[in-house]
Amino acid sequence: MRQTPSKLYHMGTLTNKRIVLGITGGIAAYKSAELVRRLRDAGADVRVVMTQAATEFITPLTMQAVSGNPVHSHLLDADAESGMSHIELARWADTALVAPASANFIAKMAHGRADDLLSTLCLATEGQVALAPAMNQQMWLNLATQENVGTLKRHGIRIFGPAAGAQACGETGPGRMLEPVEIVSLTTQLFSTGTLAGLRVLVTAGPTWEVIDPVRGITNRSSGRMGYAVAEAAAEAGAKVTLVSGPTALDAPQRVTTIRVSSALEMFDSVHAHIEGVDIFIGVAAVSDYRPASAASQKIKKHADTLTLELVKNPDILKSVAALSPAPFTVGFAAETENLETHAREKLIDKHIDLVAINDVSETDIGFDTEDNRLLLIDRHGKSELPRQHKSQLARALIQYVAERYHAKRAAQDSRPARR
Ligand code: CTP
Repeated sequence: MRQTPSKLYHMGTLTNKRIVLGITGGIAAYKSAELVRRLRDAGADVRVVMTQAATEFITPLTMQAVSGNPVHSHLLDADAESGMSHIELARWADTALVAPASANFIAKMAHGRADDLLSTLCLATEGQVALAPAMNQQMWLNLATQENVGTLKRHGIRIFGPAAGAQACGETGPGRMLEPVEIVSLTTQLFSTGTLAGLRVLVTAGPTWEVIDPVRGITNRSSGRMGYAVAEAAAEAGAKVTLVSGPTALDAPQRVTTIRVSSALEMFDSVHAHIEGVDIFIGVAAVSDYRPASAASQKIKKHADTLTLELVKNPDILKSVAALSPAPFTVGFAAETENLETHAREKLIDKHIDLVAINDVSETDIGFDTEDNRLLLIDRHGKSELPRQHKSQLARALIQYVAERYHAKRAAQDSRPARR
């Protein structure tokens, strides 16, 4: 059953999110195993970093078993560094979440010290750092701790909790670590881009290659950059993304399932093999409209003065997806040189799609093979312009627009009375 859009927005998930869970020494460390399980249930990929003191409370073996990844605990450990170095780990993380965070760790962070793996990583990461403090209530209320927490908040570090209540030491007051379920909920709120959380997106990208003979073919101009950026932006927004790509020189984007194909027919087959359950289809590929009626098995020799190639039409992948029942929300790209809006509106109607993104390819300095681009978006409700910017930023802006239109369409469908 599909969830209503409003529920999707508030529930939040951690699909595709990479979380380094730091564990410091404290009795609440026993809750970290459940925290890892809940983070993984929410879709996160979790790597655990433990301080020396943490290993006194819970074993690295337990944390390895629940996280499904090796546990890191030493800075400059030759074996660990050859797998994933502390800097790679810092770059890998979207978030470094320290739970429990001891008074000592909070003090270290407030002063920018980096004398073990976890503190070094928290300093080196560009990701969001969040701490869930856990300590005796007097230690929490101590002015030094309160000042340190104030410093960390000013530095943009998020502090989750603590809760008040009965403590392991027998006292009652503030200092208990929040429950794992509350920490997971606060962690999902760190990601503002979860607009496609829980949805499946399929993107086509790149050109196609239509074989004439073993050394020649028909293709379209397309680097694949825009489509790859769109796939990445959708993954960043929380979607499960499949990218069906024609031949490009680009590396497969991270967090995306990439399938490489060559011809339009292969792209058509691959798209339809993966379309089941897809919520949003975005056709960025520059698909060859025609292919040679037959491919020569041997290289064609230049004996004749003229050569005629018979071309047959390729199936329109975008149109075929929009014709499915139920059809995903469909977005097409159009490369136009003139009468942009008129041609785009024709495509919208002819292909029965929800949105067209127009690339003005008459401009020579943007579009093909460039880092920058701009887009004009047209749908049945009107038009919107995404100004010139780097393709990765443009892709994010496009994904935000698509997410809004998708949720608006779903909300309209859900509010329609059911037909008997
Ligand atoms: N498309 C597709 N399958 C095809 C052709 C195009 O999925 N066989 C998709 C592209 O991925 C893109 C959109 O359709 O999203 C482009 O539509 P198309 O009508 O081919 O655009 P142009 O090539 O710009 O159209 P025309 O050649 O008619 O100007």
